[in-house]
Amino acid sequence: MTKKTISAAIAAIAALAVCASTTAAAAAAAADSKTVEVMHWWTSGGEARALSVLKDGVKQRGFGWKDAPIAGGGGEAARTVLKARVASGNPPEAMQMLGFTIAEYASQDLLTNLDPLAAKEGWDKLVPGPIQRFSKVDGHWVAVPVDIHRTNWIWANKKIFDQLHLTPPKTFDELVADAAVIRKAGYIPLAHGGQPWQEATLFDSAVMSAGGPKFYTQALVDLDPKALGSKTMEKAFDQMRALRAMVDPSFPGRDWNLATAMVINGKAAMQIMGDWAKGEFANAGKKANVDYLCFQYPGTQGDFIFNTDQFATFKKSDASLAGEYAFASTVLDKDVQAKFNQIKGSIPARLDVPQDGFDECGQKSMADLRAAVKSGTMVGSFAHGHAMTDGPKNAVYDVVTHFFNSNQSSADAVKQLVDAVANAK
Ligand code: GAL
Repeated sequence: MTKKTISAAIAAIAALAVCASTTAAAAAAAADSKTVEVMHWWTSGGEARALSVLKDGVKQRGFGWKDAPIAGGGGEAARTVLKARVASGNPPEAMQMLGFTIAEYASQDLLTNLDPLAAKEGWDKLVPGPIQRFSKVDGHWVAVPVDIHRTNWIWANKKIFDQLHLTPPKTFDELVADAAVIRKAGYIPLAHGGQPWQEATLFDSAVMSAGGPKFYTQALVDLDPKALGSKTMEKAFDQMRALRAMVDPSFPGRDWNLATAMVINGKAAMQIMGDWAKGEFANAGKKANVDYLCFQYPGTQGDFIFNTDQFATFKKSDASLAGEYAFASTVLDKDVQAKFNQIKGSIPARLDVPQDGFDECGQKSMADLRAAVKSGTMVGSFAHGHAMTDGPKNAVYDVVTHFFNSNQSSADAVKQLVDAVANAK
């Protein structure tokens, strides 16, 4: 073989190799476009079980599911990982998102416009207005809601309540009195996990209980300094101080689902938590009004503080669009919404899902939601990013957590709250 023919042969082999690798890359891209990577923080028993309903739905539509779980209730860790993935130009196809985070990513033009799918499936008519307010940015659908959670719930161990002849407290003073009875009988009154988002979840209810929906909105949505610095806000902090006295010494750092397990196992009598806690009771085979009680935090009966989990899909290649649409269509599918929410503890994000199949807590939530939508009193959860943007939210988190974990007076906390919000705005 001459030098010329050798180099021609090498060139041919190289061309073949390039060709083969191009084909392999094309095949990989094609395979990728048939797979949807979904990032989320649903790693507890109940959450994982609910998620499998979405996985099955996506698979039935002919797409693969690449699971990207980032543990940590409330989603802070997952949001940090997402930021890094976006910065490196490699976001997942879909990401669990709460409240104002959706608009933040949409404003950077990173999210897929879901309008054609929304129009085809009639989302405008199916999803309640206060939820759409977060799914849509500038009138365009950029996220799809999977559930409506409510944060102002108390979950109680029925055996302990029966043994001590307790009934759901109607006022905050009654709750304090019940806690004393529970403590005396040797149980922990309140199961709590000392993480900022869990303390913020208690604060949602305390603010609502102290001032009602109008005050809640003025303080935590409008960030009105007068409301933030008011005597009513001081009362909310007083409630936080009283709740602090109901927990056990090992509360710092505890995960929310371990706190739920304390109620399930009869170590603690109550937990104040969103209705994802109900998913843990269900996962443990426990039944509403047989093994556990669900009732509203005293002073918030009928009030609906909502937290809706949505999924935003990221603009990637044209090839990934079909998978993202299949995923979004699964999320808002009527049957998927029924099954998913019955397991998750929440209620559907579309209003046409029948109530049967939901337990008494779920049915109560559905009725209260409809009433709150009508009267315009449905308010977004501060703790879960539906009341204010991230800047002030984190500032209020710090004030609330500092208060809960110190001996600060309510009057001082209120002053600090006003300053923190003013600096963060
Ligand atoms: C919330 C989320 C819920 C729930 C909870 C605990 O942020 O919206 O769906 O699962 O965290 O992980």
